[in-house]
Amino acid sequence: MNIIESLKIHLSNFGENYPNLMNEYKTNGMHTPDLNFNTWKGQAEMIQALEIKSKDSSILELGCQMGIIPHFFKEHGFTDVDSTNSKIEAGTGLDELENSWRAMNLQVDSLHILPKEEFVLRKKYDYIIATSTNILWNSNRLLQIHKNNLYYDYYILDKNDVAHTYFVPYDEEELKFFVTNIKKYLTPGGKAILHGLPFPYFMPQFKKELEYLEDNTTIITCDNFPDTSLTSDLKQKTLFTYFIIEGDK
Ligand SMILES: C[S@@+](CC[C@H](N)C(=O)[O-])C[C@H]1O[C@@H](n2cnc3c(N)ncnc32)[C@H](O)[C@@H]1O
Repeated sequence: MNIIESLKIHLSNFGENYPNLMNEYKTNGMHTPDLNFNTWKGQAEMIQALEIKSKDSSILELGCQMGIIPHFFKEHGFTDVDSTNSKIEAGTGLDELENSWRAMNLQVDSLHILPKEEFVLRKKYDYIIATSTNILWNSNRLLQIHKNNLYYDYYILDKNDVAHTYFVPYDEEELKFFVTNIKKYLTPGGKAILHGLPFPYFMPQFKKELEYLEDNTTIITCDNFPDTSLTSDLKQKTLFTYFIIEGDK
């Protein structure tokens, strides 16, 4: 099954095949899907790495946003596809997402994962996909002090209206908890892809976390970086590195 080629064709024919969806997006202020394959090349490569065996395999996208990936699977004959999204993270953009899911005929479960808090999924899956995600951020204890006032705020806009985002990556204990939790929802030999955007663990202060992931998961950096304008190796690795968790056999 060549996911990369299929997704490429799916996206290039999207406008022609799904005019009702394109119509839906016209009125969106916040969410309009970028249907350029270059934007999805990393995801396609990561999903390809799962080597999905059958169209009847059970698949969950953990954090599907507009639903492009689960919609792609369903339209390509996959029979067992679920998805979740965080209502909290969607904030005021939730209505647009819900309209998109409705138009795609997707039932998306609401799920917001918190550090070291047990989360529950519908069932065990053969494949769990979490790409471009910020699930593994623990920003609960991140504070900002500005003009002697304290705020819980994780991004600011600079004078050019460019956002600067701050986050605290999961530490070793939080990663352990998450990995143990997600394994409960993987079939024996099932696989979960976690592509944090960014992958922070190459930074020197996260040595313990990197060691934990090296010992307990498979860390992979994509072969073909979608954006060739990226210059430094660390920048590329930070954006296109993910890890795979395997279900216990
Ligand atoms: C940028 S979107 C990625 C959408 C899609 N997976 C992709 O590859 O383009 C990030 C997703 O992560 C989910 N998410 C973020 N924080 C989360 C959390 N704490 N728990 C569960 N989902 C979360 C959001 O709901 C959203 O669907």
